[in-house]
Amino acid sequence: MRTGNRRVSRRAFLGVLGGAGLAAAGCGGRRESSGELLTGRARLPEPFTVPLPIPEVARPVGPGRYEVTQRVAAVEILPGLRTEVWGYGGTFPGPTFELRRGVPATISVRNELPVPTSTHLHGGVTPPGSDGYPTDLVVPAGYSAPHGHPGEVRHEVLKDYRYPVEQRAATLWYHDHRMDFTAPQVWRGLAGMALVRDDEEDALPLPRGERELPLMICDRAFEEDGSFRYPQTHASGHGDGHGGHGGPGGGAFALDADYMEGVEGDVILVNGAPWPVAEVTATRHRLRLVNASNARRYRLRLAPGGRFTQIGSDAGLLAAPVAHDTITMAPGERYDVVVDFSAYPPGSAVTLVNTLADGPAGNVMRFVVTRRAPDDTAVPATLSRPPGRPRPVTSRTFDFRRTDEVWTVNGHPYRPGVPLARPRLGTAEMWRLTSDFHHPVHVHLAHFQVLARNGRRPEATDAGWKDTVDVRPYEVVDVLARFDGYRGRYMLHCHNLEHEDMAMMADFEVV
Ligand code: C2O
Ligand code: CU
Ligand code: CU
Repeated sequence: MRTGNRRVSRRAFLGVLGGAGLAAAGCGGRRESSGELLTGRARLPEPFTVPLPIPEVARPVGPGRYEVTQRVAAVEILPGLRTEVWGYGGTFPGPTFELRRGVPATISVRNELPVPTSTHLHGGVTPPGSDGYPTDLVVPAGYSAPHGHPGEVRHEVLKDYRYPVEQRAATLWYHDHRMDFTAPQVWRGLAGMALVRDDEEDALPLPRGERELPLMICDRAFEEDGSFRYPQTHASGHGDGHGGHGGPGGGAFALDADYMEGVEGDVILVNGAPWPVAEVTATRHRLRLVNASNARRYRLRLAPGGRFTQIGSDAGLLAAPVAHDTITMAPGERYDVVVDFSAYPPGSAVTLVNTLADGPAGNVMRFVVTRRAPDDTAVPATLSRPPGRPRPVTSRTFDFRRTDEVWTVNGHPYRPGVPLARPRLGTAEMWRLTSDFHHPVHVHLAHFQVLARNGRRPEATDAGWKDTVDVRPYEVVDVLARFDGYRGRYMLHCHNLEHEDMAMMADFEVV
């Protein structure tokens, strides 16, 4: 099986990297694939039999104060089996933080895991000290391994992350960001959602309460006993280098080189449940879609048919709704959509499918329409007044590419503390993103708009202010980024988590 994987992996990988002609001729559909499939061994449930869970909403311990403990817990993900997760609050996903624009929040993260962590609020406009820099670590009690990286900072057991929440209503998420180990640690469960709300959004007649569903989508693979399966090999020596994986026993692990493209699991989870089912009334529902997968892209469609009315992008509400038949989501992206289930007769099954995969990963979840019900919601033609596009003061290029067996930005593997750009606070810049493969590019702090793909109009699903963009093989994507909020050290990186761990990150400094 290893050998088989290696053969497929090399061929697909070289096919994509070896030139557009070869990729088109040899790999066909593989070009849509952004990782290597890892097949699990556990007995899997029939799709659409497990009820959709909704993560708990975090309860403050005082005004604007939250406490969450990262810990190991055994949870039932596959019916009848136990999975050990590393979770915020011992759950996967972690609790949902309901934040309010203009109301600062402090989240005190306590680490009771066997490994260091760093928590990043993805999409947050956050001061640098709370942004989850990869070497700004919270270490568990008694953790004594030698410092892994120059400039590494260690907080003993807990750290207060301070979020001013001076930003528009949006669907955010949070996850681990530890240097070299983000992919395996997120895979084990360190991720959750955060919703920012504001007055502008509250005034809209959008579906809320039970009719607003946060949906965190990710893929995983499982061992026969229900534990998470991840393609790591024991590394010789005490490697703490890029792509290494410090195991709970203190031993060193490395990502199996066959999975350098990224790891795709064969089980699709929504809010931590495999191919779940949710009952909905025949009314409008707001779905806050988050792609929290390590490497997998999805092209979502409703079967037997139907439309998504997109109301928001990564960084907040759109000016006006946009209808889509399909939505392609790269890792890290969010889509805020309304689906009107009154278009289906009661009793219908409406399946959210992923047309980028065949087989089990081609299904995501199912809605069962129960009955007609009153619906006083609407999607108004005008949703919000997002900030306009400022004029860029300069432009820069960031090239995302494999160089000498590692993933690089502008030819360099990640160099913490070495900024590739120094944008000025309060200005905007045009950033050109180029690539050799699928690289979902994410920028911390700065929100951006997609201006062009390959010199042409962006796609309909690129609308609005975003923080992550799906850059596809050999694409040239131009974005207009605004540097608002705070001065200091931030980063941009590929959000394929295996690429990120294999050094596809860069710092920039807002001055
Ligand atoms: Cu969601 Cu720096 O990442
Ligand atoms: Cu981020
Ligand atoms: Cu990448």
